[in-house]
Amino acid sequence: MPTTQDDIATKLDLPWIRSQFPSFAEKVNGYPAAYLDGPGGTQVPQSVIDAISHYLKHSNANTCGAYATSLRTNETIAAARSAMADFFNSDSDEVVFGFNMTSLTYAMSRAIGRELAHGDEIVLTLLDHDANFSPWKALEECGVTVRQVAFNAADCTLDMNDLAGKINSRTKLVAVGYASNAVGTINDVREVVRRAHAAGALAYIDAVHYAPHGPIDVRALDCDFLVCSSYKFFGPHMGVLYGKRAHLRRLQPYKVRANTNDSPNRWEWGTLNHEGIAGITACVEYIAGLGRQLKPAVKTRREAILAAYDEIVRYERGLCDRLIAGLKTLQGSKIYGISDPKRFEHRCPTIAVRIGRHSPLELATKLGERGFFTWDGNYYALNLTEQLDVEKDGGFLRIGLFHYNTVQEVDRLLAALREIVAA
Ligand SMILES: Cc1ncc(COP(=O)(O)O)c(C=O)c1O
Repeated sequence: MPTTQDDIATKLDLPWIRSQFPSFAEKVNGYPAAYLDGPGGTQVPQSVIDAISHYLKHSNANTCGAYATSLRTNETIAAARSAMADFFNSDSDEVVFGFNMTSLTYAMSRAIGRELAHGDEIVLTLLDHDANFSPWKALEECGVTVRQVAFNAADCTLDMNDLAGKINSRTKLVAVGYASNAVGTINDVREVVRRAHAAGALAYIDAVHYAPHGPIDVRALDCDFLVCSSYKFFGPHMGVLYGKRAHLRRLQPYKVRANTNDSPNRWEWGTLNHEGIAGITACVEYIAGLGRQLKPAVKTRREAILAAYDEIVRYERGLCDRLIAGLKTLQGSKIYGISDPKRFEHRCPTIAVRIGRHSPLELATKLGERGFFTWDGNYYALNLTEQLDVEKDGGFLRIGLFHYNTVQEVDRLLAALREIVAA
């Protein structure tokens, strides 16, 4: 059922979508809760909650036992691997489940570090979340040299010339974010992968922020690794890594002896979060379900996922446009990142802003009292806030828009900000 919200037309059935998320009934001081904190973690639909509790009720066991619930647990994990393979456009045995993106990246950096020698180089960016920075920087312990790519302060885009200059024949790995969790910039990761491979280096992509906002295709990107977190795309608190089969088999993980050496299990330590894994299948199905509503003729889950993102991207861009246009009218506001609507294809609807003398914490607190959930601070994009010189006074106010947000929420937020700033 197409929905028109003032001037943003979308084929997404917003009333149905919003009815799927029980947390949207929340109120704060009598105000309806507006979840604009999705970059820190999105809300989950009832189907994800049901899948998690269904697992705990009917399949709760450890893996590889010779009895019903254990066999069901094996099936639960296999189903989630298949769902994530459709999400990534990979094969199931290239999908690794973990605690979160940070711990998966530390595991991978330790393993890749075993292959590196003194004088080898790694290229990182100053636009990235610290989880795609510190785990690689730690390899300096092994004599590896870390090169840091700058970004353009005016619009917070990656400096691709600097990147080109930092990659050379000694480069063994380039780690880059698909999109910035602070300022929303979408990087040209296909080009970064091409440049890394031209130098014989591996490409490691942090897609945590990008995953709820756009389709991922690891085959088209040709990246060696890509990692994301299901709690950012309507699922449980877990991390998921894609790795090219050859790398997952060749690299040596740190692991206990009793753990199988089969890939991808060799990368999954101890007992996994089985109920979370059940929730992962459900969150991928939620996205695919949106696609099936929009395009009933789709034949595969992958096609359904792509159909969903087609409309998610379009709708979110409209919301982003409206929010940024409104923020620009607030006296003393400064938006960090791309703010020209003609270039919005290069950003996610994640907006970092500062407004006059008001600290981000003050704004987030006052908004929170009115039911608007936003973030203040650096959100671990520490290099970015330091480079932009906002770290010392509270970072930015971050407003994150998702396909489940509405024009009315954007308009109410702008009205609240106007009131707070005028007081
Ligand atoms: C871009 C980005 N990368 C990495 C992370 C870390 O993810 P996790 O909490 O799954 O370790 C985050 C978390 O906010 C993020 O936004």
